[in-house]
Amino acid sequence: MGSCWDYEEWNWTKIAIWAAILLVVGAVLIVLILAFAVIKPPTAMAEDALLTSFELAPSPNSSNSTTAATAKSPLQVLSYKATAAVSMRNPNLHYAISFGPVAAAFSFNGTLFDESGTVAAFNLAARKETTVRLKVGGVDKALPKLPAGGAAEFARQKEAGRFEVEVRLDTVMQYKGRKAKCPLVVICTLSLQLVDPDVAATSFQKTKCTILRAKMSGC
Ligand SMILES: *[C@@H]1O[C@H](CO)[C@@H](O)[C@H](O)[C@H]1NC(C)=O
Ligand SMILES: *[C@@H]1O[C@H](CO)[C@@H](O)[C@H](O)[C@H]1NC(C)=O
Ligand SMILES: *[C@@H]1O[C@H](CO)[C@@H](O)[C@H](O)[C@H]1NC(C)=O
Repeated sequence: MGSCWDYEEWNWTKIAIWAAILLVVGAVLIVLILAFAVIKPPTAMAEDALLTSFELAPSPNSSNSTTAATAKSPLQVLSYKATAAVSMRNPNLHYAISFGPVAAAFSFNGTLFDESGTVAAFNLAARKETTVRLKVGGVDKALPKLPAGGAAEFARQKEAGRFEVEVRLDTVMQYKGRKAKCPLVVICTLSLQLVDPDVAATSFQKTKCTILRAKMSGC
């Protein structure tokens, strides 16, 4: 009788040990698959942004009524000063990502107004994050492509106290150990309050940026 119980106990112990081994092996396999087989794209977040100057005005030239072409929708000039900090994160457990030089472009109402921002190439180790900082400014920059309703849209946003500014980052990335060089676009739509640089107390809401990836193999 006793030996029978012993046998059964031994049997359950054995089953428990095997179950535990299978669980551990399964867990290790899952971790390995996640680390090596599944490659995730980087993520981006607008951490902070500041608009200390943003003024749209008709171009001094276009007030000249003799220029018939501009009389209908006068050419607008923009004066602006903005900073933006965008964090880039590599969510992968194993793969590092290298990024080429980043070109930054700022747009208002679908109209590009600054593309002077650049960031040097950088690397992101697995599960690491870095912050890309941009600072742009301009005085009376002509916006020949601002749509006819652009000035009205500017006035409406100014009235509302917040400007919708889009920051677009263009770069090429490469997963470590992979050949493909993948074009990557990050688009952050920012809702910015115009602030006095001396006050500097802002209420910036962190916003997730959209990642656009190339549909290429290995990307
Ligand atoms: C307006 O046009 C006239 C004639 O073409 C020109 O003499 C004048 O300089 C212009 N004014 C401005 C502000 O461009
Ligand atoms: C005004 O017109 C002059 C001459 O056509 C041009 O050189 C200048 O760039 C114009 N200014 C703006 C702000 O468009
Ligand atoms: C620009 O503003 C107009 C309203 O004046 C709006 O209809 C349009 O969708 C805006 N375009 C973009 C790209 O934001």
